Amino acid sequence: MTFSQPEAIAHIANLVGGTVYVTQPAKSVESSFTSYFPNANILIDANDAYFAIQTGLETNSIDEFTTVTTSGSTIFKNLPFLSSNIFSNRKVVSHVELDSFDFSIVASLRDLNYPVIISQTPKEAQTYSVLAYNLATKLNTSVFHFFAPSSFKTDEKFKLLELTNSVILKDLENIEIENVYGELNVPFFEIINSVNNAKDSILYLGQLNKELIDAITKENTLLISIKVYQPFELSSLLSIIPSSVETLTLLEQSTSSSNSFSPLLLDFFQSYSKYQSLKNFTKVVAANLGFVSNDKFDSTISNLLTNSRSNNPIQHLSFGKVNTELTTKSYKQKYDEHIKSINNAHSKEQAYLKLLNQINPENLTILNEIDSENIGLESNPEFGYGSFLFNQEKQQELINLVYNSIQENLFQSIDNANLIDLLTKWLVLVREGIKIDKSLTNEIISLLNTDEQSSSTRDILKLSQYFYVDSNWLIGSDSWAYDLGSSGVHNLISSGKNINMLIIDSEPYNEKSKTINGLRKKDIGLYAMNYGGVYVASVAIYSSYTQVLQAFIEAEKFNGPSIILAYLPYKTELDSALSILQETKRAVDTGYWPLYRYDPSIEDETQSFKLDSSNLRKQLQDFLDRDNKLTLLAAKDPSLSRNLIASANSEIRNKQKKIADESFAQLLQGLSGPPLTVTFASDGGNAEALAKKVNRQALGRGLKSIILAMDDLSIEDLSTETNIVFITSTSGQGEFPTNGKQFWDGIKNSTDLDLASVKYSVFGLGDSQYWPRKEDKHYYNKPAKDLDSKLKLYGGIELAEIGLGDDQDADGFNTGFNEWISKIWIALGVDNIEGIEEPKPITNEDMKIGSNFLRGTIAEGLQDQSTGAISAVDQQLTKFHGIYMQDDRDIRDERKSQGLEPAYAFMVRLRLPGGKATPAQYLKMDELSDERGNGTIKLTTRATFQLHGVVKHDLKPAIRGMNSALLDTLAACGDVNRNVMISALPNNAKVHSQISKIGTLISEHLLPQTTAYHEIWLEGEDEGDKPGDREAWETRKVGPKKKKTLVSGNALVDYEPLYGPTYLPRKFKIVITVPPYNDVDVYAHDIGLIAIVEDNEVIGFNLLAGGGMGSTHNNKKTYPRTGSMFGYVPKDKVHIACEKIMLVQRDFGDRTNRKHARLKYTIDDLGVEVFKQKVEDLLDFKFEEAKEFEIKSNVDYFGWTKDELGYNHFTAFIENGRIEDTVELPQKTGLKKIAQYLNGGRSGEFRLTGNQHLLISNIEDNDLDEIKSLLSQYKLSNTDFSSLRLSSAACVAFPTCGLAMAESERYLPELISKLETSLEEYGLRHDSVVMRMTGCPNGCARPWLAEVALVGKAYGAYNLLLGGGHHGQRLNKIYRYSIKEDEILDILKPLFKRWSLERYDGEHFGDFCIRVGVIKPTTEGKYFHDDIPEDA
Ligand SMILES: Cc1cc2nc3c(=O)[nH]c(=O)nc-3n(C[C@H](O)[C@H](O)[C@H](O)COP(=O)(O)O)c2cc1C
Ligand code: SF4
Repeated sequence: MTFSQPEAIAHIANLVGGTVYVTQPAKSVESSFTSYFPNANILIDANDAYFAIQTGLETNSIDEFTTVTTSGSTIFKNLPFLSSNIFSNRKVVSHVELDSFDFSIVASLRDLNYPVIISQTPKEAQTYSVLAYNLATKLNTSVFHFFAPSSFKTDEKFKLLELTNSVILKDLENIEIENVYGELNVPFFEIINSVNNAKDSILYLGQLNKELIDAITKENTLLISIKVYQPFELSSLLSIIPSSVETLTLLEQSTSSSNSFSPLLLDFFQSYSKYQSLKNFTKVVAANLGFVSNDKFDSTISNLLTNSRSNNPIQHLSFGKVNTELTTKSYKQKYDEHIKSINNAHSKEQAYLKLLNQINPENLTILNEIDSENIGLESNPEFGYGSFLFNQEKQQELINLVYNSIQENLFQSIDNANLIDLLTKWLVLVREGIKIDKSLTNEIISLLNTDEQSSSTRDILKLSQYFYVDSNWLIGSDSWAYDLGSSGVHNLISSGKNINMLIIDSEPYNEKSKTINGLRKKDIGLYAMNYGGVYVASVAIYSSYTQVLQAFIEAEKFNGPSIILAYLPYKTELDSALSILQETKRAVDTGYWPLYRYDPSIEDETQSFKLDSSNLRKQLQDFLDRDNKLTLLAAKDPSLSRNLIASANSEIRNKQKKIADESFAQLLQGLSGPPLTVTFASDGGNAEALAKKVNRQALGRGLKSIILAMDDLSIEDLSTETNIVFITSTSGQGEFPTNGKQFWDGIKNSTDLDLASVKYSVFGLGDSQYWPRKEDKHYYNKPAKDLDSKLKLYGGIELAEIGLGDDQDADGFNTGFNEWISKIWIALGVDNIEGIEEPKPITNEDMKIGSNFLRGTIAEGLQDQSTGAISAVDQQLTKFHGIYMQDDRDIRDERKSQGLEPAYAFMVRLRLPGGKATPAQYLKMDELSDERGNGTIKLTTRATFQLHGVVKHDLKPAIRGMNSALLDTLAACGDVNRNVMISALPNNAKVHSQISKIGTLISEHLLPQTTAYHEIWLEGEDEGDKPGDREAWETRKVGPKKKKTLVSGNALVDYEPLYGPTYLPRKFKIVITVPPYNDVDVYAHDIGLIAIVEDNEVIGFNLLAGGGMGSTHNNKKTYPRTGSMFGYVPKDKVHIACEKIMLVQRDFGDRTNRKHARLKYTIDDLGVEVFKQKVEDLLDFKFEEAKEFEIKSNVDYFGWTKDELGYNHFTAFIENGRIEDTVELPQKTGLKKIAQYLNGGRSGEFRLTGNQHLLISNIEDNDLDEIKSLLSQYKLSNTDFSSLRLSSAACVAFPTCGLAMAESERYLPELISKLETSLEEYGLRHDSVVMRMTGCPNGCARPWLAEVALVGKAYGAYNLLLGGGHHGQRLNKIYRYSIKEDEILDILKPLFKRWSLERYDGEHFGDFCIRVGVIKPTTEGKYFHDDIPEDA
């Protein structure tokens, strides 16, 4: 067999074991070794690899081998670290690939006294590796094994060392060190060619190749290759040289050196005198061999030997080309990839640099500016620091000159008094290190220019560039040469100079076990804080934009050194922004990357350290503990205090668990039957509920049964189980649910599990249609089947054969379950025992009734600080208060693996009738988003504001804050009438005002009357209150009711005249639109009101009823539906019509099945006419015949427009409704500035649209210029996007929505970008296609009405739907099930192209798809599942 050198070396390294480090050029550019060491620590060449290894060695066991595979250039850069003692006392074997054929690197190790050996062929690579580990063992030191990619004897056949053979020689202890080489047949020097009576010889340190050997042989010259460079055994060399030889040329291959001193010569002469008796050369000549092409070897060698043979040979001549790249093709390719990855890394790092530029547009100097043409010296931070010092020196010279010139009044300008005044000002500022305004320096220089006489002015002007005081930054990162070994940072810190350093760490958190580069960078922060006098911040732009901004500004202000450690984790330079965001969140949440700012210039101890994230690493805790800052911090921030005691808590929890386990064990003693363990894995709760049922029944039948999640089951203890049943559902694409993943990974990889005495059975919950294509059938119930076969393999005995539950069966998974469970009872011998009566599950209806008008135990739950969650029942009840409990799904797994509860936080949604807010109200939401939420505001698909990430103890202050601005959240969610949404209508003020009033009237009319909202959230005092807050809501006329109703008998009670104690069966939604606009999607809601307008007067409404979007994948009994036309209602009666429809739904809606409870099903079940009749029975009038109307579009009108009263309105494009600050789009700050401007007594309001965009409305002409300038400054003015993007919408989905199966808001923009180039090509940039995406079939962004829709099925997979009506009038239909990005693009691009070529004039995409037969139309919700293409 033939093997490559890396392969042979890796084989030996893997046989000896120990820790392996592989250095490579970039994350995405592997070295030739990477693939052979899957578990290696990966280090980046430029990042001081041996410093990182040194850190690793400090924690490793002394006996362990350490293998490093690296390159010659990396060794060169790391020489300073190699002199560390630890490398001479540890068994570290470095295999060094001489990628650029520069053998001078070998010689550069000479003073370090480590054994250095050089192999040339793959076979030698194996032998020399063996030698290296033996030398390392024998001498307990580092060993360097060099090799160049071989062109020599690559096809030589040899065998790899058998796995059973020991790499280390048997009797190594007793073998003398000199003999170790011999034992392994490695000579110190080797004669390569055979020549007779040679007079000349060449001792060669370089790569052997056939042409070189032939050329030397032709010259009848002996070629000797160096095999062991250190120790340099001269006697051994001399003893192999035949007596005929007279001259010796010491030839070193190097592409870089010329005419320089050769270390090889020194090695030779160091002991030559001692052994000269062995061999007396007439001449010893040192020479250098550069790059020689194969056809030039003969002439080159001939020239070389002519010099050596001459009477007075010249020393250190270079032959061949030097200072040129001597590389192999593969090296060149790697180099190119390296440059590409540097550019990629650089573009990622722009996130920080752009911000730095924004803060400092005029005088930012990056001292080690990167130049992609010339990646090298200039980008090195030490180079940057050098140029900083040079500038400082020059500036000092200027300061002295100016000072003296002022003292001696040496100026002769046109206005000396002013000049001196300005110069004095400059001197003061420059000495204080304060940024100097350019206008000051410009003025000084122009005055100096008027002085043509004085020589001191001339001298000053020569240094005029140093008048400018720039903000100086040094950057260390993966694209900037990262060379900040401790010395670099130390120099900076100890200099005390006013210089800033930004260090970007790109190591992902979950890679931390594999690499140690990251640790080192982070610890710089601690080091600097401990040193003192340094501003330090640890930031992460994908976690908190504002914090990065604050840190940059503070660092610039700080007069002294500042260090900012910036996190930007990516696995390879090609990672998407979304994955960087997810990695960042994981690292920040777990405290691996804490966010903090430390400003030692602040004297107040409590203020100098600011913690901006809530978890800390141990080291940082220790630092803070030492300074007693932690206690101060915890006192300031109760959430922190909860996190800080989390570790203590977990101990308490463990203790409690132990006590509980013991008492449970005692309880089981009382039971007589055999033991049973019931274990489950479940994402949505079905499998868990089933497991609980099995457990209850087992206990009822007298079994000693216990229940636990699979991940809580110890694999080691599995073999001690007697009877065990596994119940697992299927998530993702045939994957284990989250709480069974760890268990499955453990069991799947287990090698020594013996289950011969364990009786088991598996029950799976799945859906045979979830992945309906033939090739995907194996995903059906895959985890259950996989688990069953593994258990069988380990010898488990089946209690009963595997049972499978299928959502598609008549009774869902219960069909399969009932069959399976009866077999289990038989197997356990308890089938004849009467089971216990199953308690009825608690339904939402029970919860409502038992809640005492929506109180439940919400108030008590808020007090419980031991968890961030609230109880399951309260989770349902808080929805009525506008609150959803969620957890951050990006970090769910990570927290679980840390033993932490999920990162619970709440979504808080406003009830915002008419979707408008005053500037003051907007400012309040902005403030609350920062103080109580995650720093962003979401504009929802039902035109209201939503805050995310509100943790439990911030809930009350957040809600009180909103109420203080006369906003409330009552009935924003829950089984009630929710927010009433209206058309934004920017160009018709009168009509908008009328529908706005009607919208508010309906909302208030249908508002729940419970006083629970006021009682729980608003009564009494709260420490978060600000002056005037309480008065605001106490004196509010509308909104949540404050006092209970007085009934007969003088009792005060809650009274819900419309709802009663059980409220509605499901949510209820009302919207109003004004034709031809349909920005509210009037067909999609329980009630859609179409305004009929005559002469700017709304006279009444056509009323649609029974629209609704929610459905469940693969459940044909659920479907989306468009509203049915009930007829016309005059405007003064419309709120009553809405009320009565709601009441019929209240009484006839299905309260037994929430999946069938919406008005749309009630109407379809009763029939439109019957339902309508029931409504009319309650009304004192009948619906009139619908009036004519024409709707044209459901997208927003972007840009500026003027209404008939002369007010201006601007519709801004807020992608998917997320108001946030990013480096590219600081829109949140922009909107805040606009609100602040308008709040100063000006006309103006904010309006939200159902497409999740925002209007700045009612702007007077006088204010236009200012508003336009703010819009443009904060990148809000741009509406020049593709029409596809402008017509798109996505729901929230990950990370906050608990129901999301796939990404939506974070992914749709990316997908659209991928489509846009094609649209441009087909000339479709300005053609609107309504495209919507949701993370699940609940349909919050109303995907079912879009012309193109993508509905999440599992992470990365979507159902594609086509054929919706352009203005929301027709439902679409499934075109393909569960496809991923590639397929989505492959389908949509050609379809768009076809549309561009074949459409009729003005024909919309949805209509086109139907006309040409791509998809059948969905005429009614009931038929949504019909006619789906067969190959879908
Ligand atoms: C996102 C998602 C992915 C699913 N993937 C599969 C699958 O690949 N194979 C399968 O048989 N069932 C699949 N199902 C169906 C579920 O396993 C099934 O509905 C089960 O009852 C859910 O149980 P749980 O609530 O305990 O998680 C999937 C369901 C969801 C929501
Ligand atoms: S559509 Fe589904 S995933 Fe998207 S926000 Fe609504 S419930 Fe969540």
